[in-house]
Amino acid sequence: AVDVRKLYANTGGFTFDPGFTSTCSCESAITFIDGEKGQLLYRGYRADELAQKSNYMEVCYLLLNGELPTQSEYEEFTDAIRMHTMLNESLKRFFTGFHYDAHPMAMLSSIVSGLSAFYHDTTNTADPEHRKIFARRMIAKIPTIAAAAYKYSIGQPMIYPKNELDYSSNFLRMMFAVPAEEYEVDPVAAEALDVLLILHADHEQNASTSTVRLAGSTGCNPYAAISSGIAALWGPAHGGANEAVLKQLSAIGDVSNVDKFIAKAKDKNDPFRLMGFGHRVYKNFDPRATVIREHCHKVLKAYGGDTDGMLELAMKLEEIALKDEYFVERKLYPNVDFYSGIIYKAIGIPTNMFTPMFAIGRTVGWVAHYLEMISDPGMRIGRPRQIYTGATERPYTDIAGR
Ligand code: ACO
Repeated sequence: AVDVRKLYANTGGFTFDPGFTSTCSCESAITFIDGEKGQLLYRGYRADELAQKSNYMEVCYLLLNGELPTQSEYEEFTDAIRMHTMLNESLKRFFTGFHYDAHPMAMLSSIVSGLSAFYHDTTNTADPEHRKIFARRMIAKIPTIAAAAYKYSIGQPMIYPKNELDYSSNFLRMMFAVPAEEYEVDPVAAEALDVLLILHADHEQNASTSTVRLAGSTGCNPYAAISSGIAALWGPAHGGANEAVLKQLSAIGDVSNVDKFIAKAKDKNDPFRLMGFGHRVYKNFDPRATVIREHCHKVLKAYGGDTDGMLELAMKLEEIALKDEYFVERKLYPNVDFYSGIIYKAIGIPTNMFTPMFAIGRTVGWVAHYLEMISDPGMRIGRPRQIYTGATERPYTDIAGR
C-alpha cells in the first residue's frame, strides 16, 4: 500500500487552500460526515439514532474507545467521571479574578487552561493510564467549571456536584440550585440536555477540533490544547452561532419582519448573515438540526408552549429561506445551532451560556481527537505554509533617515 504521508511529505510544492475547504489534515476513525446525504456517524453509529436511544455518557465512551460499553464498562466509566467532577479548591480563586460581567466562555477557556497548572502528570502523554485520567478529568470537570462561571456571573456561590445524579442532571443542579434550598432537577430538561450534548459531541475536523489538534501537535499540556479549542469555538461563525441565533430571533421579533431580514441576508452590500444557516460540510440538511427541531416541540409542550413565539418565528424563517432562490442556490440550511437555543432558553439556560453548553458537549470530541492524534506514531507538528505577499528584501534605514 502507498503511504500517502510519505508520498506528499516534503515534495517542495504547496497547495493554496484558504479556509482549508479541500485539505485533509489527518486520518481519523472517530466521526464520519457525508455532507451531501446529511449523514453523521460516530464510530459508525448514526448520531440521530444515538440521540434517540443512547445517553451522553455512553456516547462519550464510544467516541473515546471506539465501541459501545458493556454494562460493567459503562459502570466503571460513569463512576470514574463522577469521581472527577470536583475542582481543586484553589482553582475556585481563579473565578474571583474575573470582572462580574465576563463572558462565561472567557472564564471557561482560562480556567481549563488553568487546569494545566494543577495536572502536570498528564503531560506524560505516552502513558495510557495518564491519557485515560486526562480524558475523564476533562469530561467530568467541564460542567462544574461552566456552572461555576455562571454562578459567579450572577453573584451566587458555586454549587458543588452531587454525584448520585446523572451527568446532565448534575449540571442543571449546579446551574440552578441555591445553597440550603431543595432543588429537584426536571427530567424533561435533563433529557433534552442529554440529547443536545450527544448531538454536539463530535464533528470531525471543525475549527475548534483542528485548533486542539494543531496546539496539541506541539506537545503542549493537553488541558492547554483543550483551552485553545474552547477559544476557537467561541466565534459566531462556529459555536458562538447558537447565542447569535437567539439574539437575532429576538431582533426579528415578529413573523411580519421575516421578509425584511431575509432581504438583508441576501444583500451582498450588507455583511448581515442569517445566523444558524449554512455549513461548510452539510449541503442538503444538517441531521442534528432535524433532531433538535423535533425536540423543540417536545420541550416547549412540557413548558407550556411557545410562549415567546421563538419557535414559530424560527420555523417561519426556515420555511421562507428554504424556498428562496438565494438560499437554495447556495445550499444554505439550518444548522445545529438554529434550534438549540430555543431549547436552552426553555429550560432556563441564559443566552450567554449557550456556547459554554456547546463546549461541554464537544469536550469529548476534542479529547478523542487529541488522544487519537498523539497515539499516531506518524504524528508531526502541524505547520501550514503560506504565500508571501510582502516586501522583497530591502536594506535597513536608520531611524533618522526614514
Ligand atoms: N446567511 C446569508 N448568506 C450566507 C450565509 C448565511 N448564514 N452563509 C453563507 N452565506 C452565503 C455567503 O455569503 C456566500 O455567498 P456568495 O457565494 O454569494 O459569496 C455563500 O453563501 C457561501 O458562504 P461561505 O461563507 O463561503 O461558506 P463557508 O463554508 O465558508 O461558511 C459558515 C460556512 C461559516 C457556517 C457560514 O454559512 C455562516 O457564516 N453561517 C452563519 C453562522 C453559523 O450559523 N455558524 C454555525 C456553523 S455550524 C457550527 O459551527 C456548529
